[in-house]
Amino acid sequence: MNILIIGSGAREHALAKALRRSNQQPKIFCCGTSNNPGIQAFSQEYWKGDICHVQTILAKAKDWQIDLAIIGPEAPLEKGLADALWNQGIPTIGPKQKLAQIETSKAFTRDLLTLYHIPGSPIYRIFHDLSNVQEFLQQLGENGYVIKANGLMGGKGVKVAGDHLHSFAEAYQFCEEIIKTGQSFVIEEKLIGQEFSLLCFCDGKTLVTMPAVQDHKRAFINDEGPNTGGMGSYSDANHSLPFLTENDLLEAQNINEAVIKALQTEFGEKYIGILYGSFMATKTRVRVIEFNARFGDPEAMNILSILESDFVEICTAMVAGKLSKDQVQFSPLATVCKYAVPNGYPDQPVKNVEIDISSIQNPEQLYLAAVDECDGKLYATGSRTAAVVGIAQSIFAAEKMAEAEIQRIHGPLFHREDIGTEPLIQRRINHMEEIRQCVV
Ligand code: AMP
Ligand code: GLY
Repeated sequence: MNILIIGSGAREHALAKALRRSNQQPKIFCCGTSNNPGIQAFSQEYWKGDICHVQTILAKAKDWQIDLAIIGPEAPLEKGLADALWNQGIPTIGPKQKLAQIETSKAFTRDLLTLYHIPGSPIYRIFHDLSNVQEFLQQLGENGYVIKANGLMGGKGVKVAGDHLHSFAEAYQFCEEIIKTGQSFVIEEKLIGQEFSLLCFCDGKTLVTMPAVQDHKRAFINDEGPNTGGMGSYSDANHSLPFLTENDLLEAQNINEAVIKALQTEFGEKYIGILYGSFMATKTRVRVIEFNARFGDPEAMNILSILESDFVEICTAMVAGKLSKDQVQFSPLATVCKYAVPNGYPDQPVKNVEIDISSIQNPEQLYLAAVDECDGKLYATGSRTAAVVGIAQSIFAAEKMAEAEIQRIHGPLFHREDIGTEPLIQRRINHMEEIRQCVV
């Protein structure tokens, strides 16, 4: 079986590793944006170029006689790559363009939740120009709003009051900037609580939920500094998180299920791929931050590293509409993933600096991301560089493994020492307890 992976980051390296563990021994092919030696090592053929250029990817897929494609990142989904592959008879993991709006358009998603009475949305309003912006900001209050550009902006399209925006004037200015780029935007209520990611496999009808994961967006320890693509993440041995109740998980799962049903009704098309719900556990219930139409990065590393079942079988069942819960088993183990990123990341990262991974002790749990190989040397290209995963009975034991391992990656890089440590997790638990006990 010939399987094509689209994308060349750590998430796609994790996908490649999961495929390689399959008893079916598929042949792996990859279209990526850089030379990721981790993925190249498993690939029959590897093409580097623009993965959003649908016709080129299609030509590669035909040339390589691909039987199944997996789309890693969101940008090719937005360009309709899944539609094009399915139209050529190539079953694809990743929703078609219209369905992918669940990630690519914040306004679409908020309206879908409203239309189908799916609970959990914050108060929101969609803006196509600047009229009434001031009034709505005032209504939500000084620290009570979030502004989101409607389309994909490479992680730079969301700003949160109190964190990134410190006055109504700054907020208004950000809205002006978005309008100048030709986009509409959403202003919504700021939710208070603890964030978590709940992903599921979906065959168009049946959803199978994966272990819950908590990502860390902020660049520096203690959740300080600018937002990033995600500096690291953890999951627990019971597949929940230490600050979540059983009911929280159930609510999030029900919301994911309702979204898939709503998309099916709206477009008459099956959603085949990964649905990634990004949620906030709040004082009273689970609320929706956003959805992604793909695996999370770094969440994929936590989840796939403890997947016991055959990933090829899961993918085959998804595209055939035959997914069942018994097909998907995860080890009852905790994971901690940590990312090493270039000094200066995310705002002014050093670029094309040499790194050394030769001291790594467990290469199976090393995931290469924004790196390029040239003349046998490895270079960090400026975005997140490489991730490692610790797997153990407890989060804290997994953290120690990940921390020791990430220190074996040498170069002008940094990482967050605090992800998965006891003090940080305890802070999350305390925060949630305080919120839940608070009467007003
Ligand atoms: P996004 O780019 O949509 O993933 O959003 C980036 C981050 O903004 C999220 O991970 C949250 O930390 C934060 N965020 C987005 N929407 C909200 C909201 N309504 N309330 C509080 N935080 C939010
Ligand atoms: N973990 C954040 C993302 O994949 O978008």
